[in-house]
Amino acid sequence: MRIIFRFGGIALLVAAIVILAVLPFATSFVEQWTRRDVELRSRLVFNSARDQVIGLLTRNETDRLAGLFERIASDERVLAIGYCDGEELRSPTRGMPASFACEKAARSDSESFSTITSEGRDILVSSFPLKVSGRTGHLVVLHDLSYADQRGGEARNYLFLALAGVAFGAAALAALIAAFIMRRWLASIRQALDNARAGAAGHPEQENIIPLGQEIRDVLQELESSRRTIDAAHTDWNPDTLRAALANELSGSEVIVVSNREPYIHNQGKDGGISLQIPASGLVSALEPVVRACGGTWVAHGSGTADRETVDANDRVPVPPAHPTYTLRRVWLTEEEQDGYYYGAANEGLWPLCHIAFVRPIFREQDWQYYRSVNEKFADAVVAEAKSEDPIILVQDYHFGLLPRMIRNRLPQATIVTFWHIPWPNAETFGICPWREEIIDGLLGSSILGFHTQAHCNNFLDAVDSYVESRIDRELDSVTYGGEETLIRPYPISIEWPPTALEGQKPVEECRRIVRERLGLPPEMRIGVGIERFDYTKGILDRMQAIDALLTDNPQWKGNFAFVQVAAPTRSKLANYRQLQEEAEALAREINEKHGMPGYEPIKLLVRHHEPDEVFELFRAADLCIVSSLHDGMNLVAKEFVAARDDEEGVLILSAFAGASRELSEALIVNPYNAHAMGLAINRALTMPQPEQRERMRLMRDQVKERNVYRWAGQMLLAASRLRKRQRIRRLVSSGRKRAAANV
Ligand code: G6P
Repeated sequence: MRIIFRFGGIALLVAAIVILAVLPFATSFVEQWTRRDVELRSRLVFNSARDQVIGLLTRNETDRLAGLFERIASDERVLAIGYCDGEELRSPTRGMPASFACEKAARSDSESFSTITSEGRDILVSSFPLKVSGRTGHLVVLHDLSYADQRGGEARNYLFLALAGVAFGAAALAALIAAFIMRRWLASIRQALDNARAGAAGHPEQENIIPLGQEIRDVLQELESSRRTIDAAHTDWNPDTLRAALANELSGSEVIVVSNREPYIHNQGKDGGISLQIPASGLVSALEPVVRACGGTWVAHGSGTADRETVDANDRVPVPPAHPTYTLRRVWLTEEEQDGYYYGAANEGLWPLCHIAFVRPIFREQDWQYYRSVNEKFADAVVAEAKSEDPIILVQDYHFGLLPRMIRNRLPQATIVTFWHIPWPNAETFGICPWREEIIDGLLGSSILGFHTQAHCNNFLDAVDSYVESRIDRELDSVTYGGEETLIRPYPISIEWPPTALEGQKPVEECRRIVRERLGLPPEMRIGVGIERFDYTKGILDRMQAIDALLTDNPQWKGNFAFVQVAAPTRSKLANYRQLQEEAEALAREINEKHGMPGYEPIKLLVRHHEPDEVFELFRAADLCIVSSLHDGMNLVAKEFVAARDDEEGVLILSAFAGASRELSEALIVNPYNAHAMGLAINRALTMPQPEQRERMRLMRDQVKERNVYRWAGQMLLAASRLRKRQRIRRLVSSGRKRAAANV
């Protein structure tokens, strides 16, 4: 209906403009036409009276001449009549205006017409020469032109009415045609939708109603097929499925990944050579296999001491070094930038803010300035790497809260998928952050924003609700902010399956023997492991206290159980991290003194970085693994332990506050703040019958196998692909509207 009014209104406006333009011409045409009509009448009067007038004048019968003139003037349109004999007016009728003078009106040798004004009236004077007895005089006939004016006015009014009628009719017709075209066009879209939904080809005649229907149908069918791909590939995500999904759904699309931590670090070795390090980072271990499978460019901070020596002139290096499949683009940061952006804003501010581990966040304005400028620096690098206008950009983690908006401003058509690898706290906690609005604004520059769990998504939506003006759709989990929509989705991160680090591993029995030998432990010693970065969120101290509780409550384990804690030094520039290391070392000493015996130390604390092979060997050698995070987005150590145990034995003790506990519910779920209960869980793990261990391990392995990191990445990329197709449809629909409007 609205469309009818809109088109009708436009047509009426156009018609009104046409009428206003045409009317003055039409009026002057009617006036000329009326005047010519009056002249014609004068000529008729003259022709019919000429002979009689000549006869009467020749015979000088003045009275009869006056009588003749009065009869002619009795016609209501003739105002007056008379005869000009030179300058003398003879026998003028009663209506002759006093101002009439022969010398002005009757001078020409041929008929002439002129206009005079008398008492506010326009009068047409027609003058016809006559030869009477050798003398030339003029018969003058006067017509009152107000009759002509009146007739002209009437004609103008009729004309106006006629034009208005035609315009109104044309407007109504235009509106009806527009409505008809729009209906057919909508029917064509609906038809395309139905066909796509049914997977049918559709009737060619129907499809070609408007060619646009065909285009939309194609896009919708692509959309539908991508949904089917997800369903079909649900059970078997692997590098090939991911590559295929990318090729089918996002063919030709450029993929750029951005993270702070780089996947390969080149360091100066002590021997003068260059050594390669794979950092201890959940983000890297998850993302690297994905980028290896998909190809593309990974933009990250070049933090190694030999990083500059290994890049080309454009700061790029092909990786993995042995068999390159993608490009690592390094970004260089000064020490001040690292201190402000990485150590300060990211790790002293946002990290403790987002992890509820009761470490007070520190917010320094100076750090924030660096955070902003380093985000800008990465935006520059991303834009420089982008070869197309609409790349897919995968932004990683809390180091880049502002980056999505910065990229959006410079590449408006990019599909930006941001993943926040750490928890998102409740809105009240997030509210203490002085940069809260800016961070939310930055993240809402993303097309899709992912968290590990639905709870983190909900917390984010609450924060948006509390701190910025936006429209939140709780059903669709989306935020519309500044006219742009961001989808908020849970994507539980995972690990590659099967893990590369499992390749070349020795059988479990052998691993048990080798590890015990290396650690100086007797062959029958039961072993528990904990492996992570030395971070206060991991609950390392709480875990040691649980060992203390175990050995206190169950002294039979003294001399029979050892706990191996591998802790990779991390962020050691920060006081909290240095302090944690000191406290952990002191606590380990204390517990070892308390429960140790000659040749037996219950806790072995190994403070150094372990490469993935060593980590997996340790997992395979262990009877149990403890993940006691005080708060963790996901925690991939738990999943790696499960993946390492292809013998289907071993027990996982897992914190309820790690995202992984949502998926690995067959682990022994513990509260890390309760050392006593955790001690009981360790005892239970050590005494768990093998069949139960197998049953639990099998279920967890199925879960990790199925919901592996290729699925994580695949789901995000397919969501991105659906979004791109939807945007294409929107663009098609809006250009179709314009086309339909132009056709009217
Ligand atoms: C967490 C973060 C990652 C980070 C990793 C290691 O998993 O989410 O972004 O890379 O810790 O921390 P680091 O500061 O050494 O990169």
